[in-house]
Amino acid sequence: MISVFLGPPGSGKGTQAKRLSAEKKTPQLSTGDMLRSAIAAGSALGRSAQEFMSRGALVPDEVVIGLIRERTDQGDCAGGFILDGFPRTIPQAEALDALLWERHRKIDSAILFQIDDSVLVSRLTGRRTCLKCGAMYHIESMPPRQVDVCDQCGSELIQREDDREDVILKRLSVYHHQTSPLVEYYSKQGILSPVDASASPAVVFESVSQKLGFGRSA
Ligand code: AP5
Repeated sequence: MISVFLGPPGSGKGTQAKRLSAEKKTPQLSTGDMLRSAIAAGSALGRSAQEFMSRGALVPDEVVIGLIRERTDQGDCAGGFILDGFPRTIPQAEALDALLWERHRKIDSAILFQIDDSVLVSRLTGRRTCLKCGAMYHIESMPPRQVDVCDQCGSELIQREDDREDVILKRLSVYHHQTSPLVEYYSKQGILSPVDASASPAVVFESVSQKLGFGRSA
């Protein structure tokens, strides 16, 4: 099963992809996480990506397409994977289709996380992420037991540099201009499945699992 998670920043793609990945043993391929790892490693790719990410712009298509090409070649992707935050432009979607076609594979499902922009700013300004294990929290809706400490590994929680209100508004605008055309792209392919992303994380998880044919969670 190859699935694309599509939706605006803060719609819950990462939260759901991480849980599905853990419970269904399917790799989560997040271009955002890959780019943040490159930044943390101080690589040339990371330094160049940071300049785009810190102002809420998209990293150039060829960079993220290269990351996905390399990652999907790894053995754990043979049984399928969840693409979280990729593709984000029509050229990325076309490159993905071509890459999968070369390997006699195709996307099975594109899940659209539908939610009003007005909810997203508070979701993102309240997000906290574990630097070490990547676990995610929200200071109001999913707080850690101890302020700024990860429940799972005890490491420090941080606020992402691009989760400032001015950058969030820019990211939302980028989503509407550059990414939302993918709704029609996947709708035309007959693989688009919308879910109500404003529901609780547990309800969204059930909806996504149903759409992907996993049935009810364990
Ligand atoms: P990326 O890391 O992909 O960020 P994003 O798409 O903007 O998405 P987010 O991670 O902000 O949100 P999400 O939908 O995953 O929500 P989450 O589950 O975290 O990309 C960052 C940057 O990298 C881009 O701006 C760009 O520069 C670059 N980039 C990445 N991919 C690229 C590409 N393909 N092409 C070019 N550039 C690329 O949830 C958010 C918060 O809400 C959390 O606190 C969570 O706890 C809470 N929450 C989640 N679900 C619920 C719920 N149901 N109810 C209440 N709260 C909830």
